[in-house]
Amino acid sequence: MEGLAMAFRKRKGGLPLVMVTAYDYPTARVAEEAGVDAVLVGDSLGMTVLGYTSTIPVTMDDMVHHARAVRRGLQHTLLVVDMPFLAHRLSMEETLRNAGRLLQEGGADAVKLEGGREVTDRVTALTEAGIPVMGHIGLTPQSVQQLGGYKVQGREPAAAEKLLEDGRRLEEAGCFSLVLEGVPEGLGAKISRALSIPVIGIGAGAYCDGQVLVIHDLLGWSYGPKPKFVKRYAHFADAAVGAVRQYAKEVRERQFPDPAHVYDPESGATVR
Ligand code: KIV
Ligand code: NA
Repeated sequence: MEGLAMAFRKRKGGLPLVMVTAYDYPTARVAEEAGVDAVLVGDSLGMTVLGYTSTIPVTMDDMVHHARAVRRGLQHTLLVVDMPFLAHRLSMEETLRNAGRLLQEGGADAVKLEGGREVTDRVTALTEAGIPVMGHIGLTPQSVQQLGGYKVQGREPAAAEKLLEDGRRLEEAGCFSLVLEGVPEGLGAKISRALSIPVIGIGAGAYCDGQVLVIHDLLGWSYGPKPKFVKRYAHFADAAVGAVRQYAKEVRERQFPDPAHVYDPESGATVR
């Protein structure tokens, strides 16, 4: 197992781990400067930055493209990149090739893939190939059609037991950590206690080993319905609209560019 992922794994039991998504260079810079423990290039980029209504249309090429940009913005933070829809479902060979691309071309330190007991053979093969794997169970958006919508998972005792067992099997298969999404707080606590790898929650309550949020959600820069688990720490979309409106107004009123932003013979030859 690689260094950064192994170090992340060992932090179980310490301070809660912090992960955010990033999809480009400036967001990666922001995440690292803010001191998060891991950055995820999530396939949520389909919604946040590509404007799709789900993660289904996201391709391997999309993931590589965005991962490369994020890689350039990170120096020492663990970079996890999502396997998009079907990338780990067709064959073992395809799975290894796709995960390999995320490391070789995208610069990922680890990959994340959705699924429980049905993907443990993939997790083992990837781990044996030297690719650290983060699991993802509970509300798995790539299966939203089958789950019947974005619904809280593991509410019935049998479903809760199944998720706990999926978590155990993923750990056994070699996952260094896993994301647990959209489950009742009690189940989040139970699964976190039962596993010896860090369980990173999103909509899984306060008792997980860490938390992850989509950065556009926490910055108030996302469109579409806000899940209950999202807390907005800023209002970027409103601030951006205000700034662009102000610029438009100043151009139309010939207030911009003003003397501070134009060239004259004294200002020298360089553009900056
Ligand atoms: O794609 C994503 O952003 C994710 C996180 C929300 C866990 O998978
Ligand atoms: Na994802």
